[in-house]
This record gives sequence, structure tokens and C-alpha cells, in this order.
Amino acid sequence: PAMAGAPRGAFILFEGVDRSGKSTQAARLVEALKAQGTPAELWRFPDRKGTVTGKAIDDYLSAPAPAAAAGAAASAGANAAPGSAAGLSDQAIHLLFSANRWEKSAALVDALRRGVTLVVDRYAYSGAAYTSAKRTPGCGLAWCKAPDAGLPAPDVTLWMALPPEAAAARGGFGQERYENAAFQEQVRAAFASVRDASWVDVDASKGVDEVAAEVLREAVDAVRRCREGQPILALWD
Ligand code: TMP
Ligand code: MG
Repeated sequence: PAMAGAPRGAFILFEGVDRSGKSTQAARLVEALKAQGTPAELWRFPDRKGTVTGKAIDDYLSAPAPAAAAGAAASAGANAAPGSAAGLSDQAIHLLFSANRWEKSAALVDALRRGVTLVVDRYAYSGAAYTSAKRTPGCGLAWCKAPDAGLPAPDVTLWMALPPEAAAARGGFGQERYENAAFQEQVRAAFASVRDASWVDVDASKGVDEVAAEVLREAVDAVRRCREGQPILALWD
């Protein structure tokens, strides 16, 4: 661990639709940073294991979604057993995803201050994009963003830009809720509404090595800015 007064680590975030290569690139980036002597850790949200909320979120995501139109497929299963996370309302699951980030926020800032660079796979932008894409009455973008306002903000958000056709060509989705093409396109549109000054577009349709090189350039730049004293900002404040 770095000594007090040592430069802080960078908060490097990956966002993108499913199958855009976030997890692959995040893992590679951590290894590349470590190889050049930058302490780095891989984090992901939802954090399904190290949190109070993680188990409920995992249960919700792995519950079979009703096969129907995109919106319905994304929303809560009406026939879920009472007390099961599978039947949580859109509002309740949204707040759990947010709470899952708040559970980790103090540890996140602590790691950055110890000089550890955090490579994070999804964060509050996913939260706002996925819930607002459901088009649930009363759950517009402002409602979706509110519970995450004040979280530590990323120093750079790497948007893994991948056209729908390219995403489709990457093969089938898994079995989790939200993993269907129609809903993913609604999510893509919603992401466009939440982008901010921290975002940098990465052409995720290129080969894995080419993408990794571009990602590393952006990450090294963020690490340098943080070393030079760029403050940790609050998200959406
Ligand atoms: P994962 O596939 O990256 O593990 O994420 C699981 C799903 O959860 C993915 O479809 C995106 C969704 N999600 C939300 O709906 N809200 C959130 O806040 C986050 C972080 C993810
Ligand atoms: Mg997934």
C-alpha cells in the first residue's frame, strides 16, 4: 500500500451493452497495468458476492423472465414466490443495484487513496440505462439517477462502442434477465442519455488486441492525471 500523501489511484470504468467486451478488456487492463508497475484491482457491479444486496440481485437476474415483448421481459416476474427477489418491482431492484454500489463506496475511495487503480466493470450508468430502458411509469431518467448521485465518480468511462449488428454477430445471449436483443437496443439508447464528460468512446468492434491497446492508452492517461492531483469527484452532483 502507498504511504499517506502518495498519489491516488484512478477509477477507470467500463460501460457498454452485453457482449461488448467489457469483462475481457477489464481483466486484460488490470494485468497490463500491474505489468507496468501500477497497483490495480478488478471490481464489478453488481457485486454479487461481497455485499448484503448481492445475493438478492443475483437471484433477481437469474430468475426466468417472462418471454414476451422487450419491456415485459425485463420487468419483474408476476408469478414469483412471495419473498423471492425474482418478483421485485422495477423500483425495488433499481434501488438494490444502487445500494450495492453504496455498500462499496467507502472501500472504493479508500482503495483509490491507498494508490490502487480500480478497473470497474459497470457502475451507475448501467443502473440508470437498464432501468430507464424498461420505460416503467414514474421511473424516468431523473428518478433513475437520483439514488446514485454523490457516489464517487469515475475518472474515465470507457464506452465500449459496438453497433447492434456486431453485437448480434458475437453469438447468443446467456440466460439472465435483460439478455435479449430487443431490450438491449433500448438499453443502448438509454446509455446515450447518460453519457457525460468522463466518457471516451472505444471502438469495440476492432480485434481484442487493438481494443486493449486503445484501452491501455486511455487508462495510462487517467492514471497520470490522478497522480498529478485530479480530485475524486462526486457523481451527478
Ligand atoms: P453483468 O452481466 O455485468 O454481470 O450485469 C448483470 C446485469 O445487470 C446486466 O444485464 C446489467 C444489469 N445491471 C442493472 O440492471 N443495473 C445496474 O445497476 C447494474 C450495475 C447492472
Ligand atoms: Mg451479463
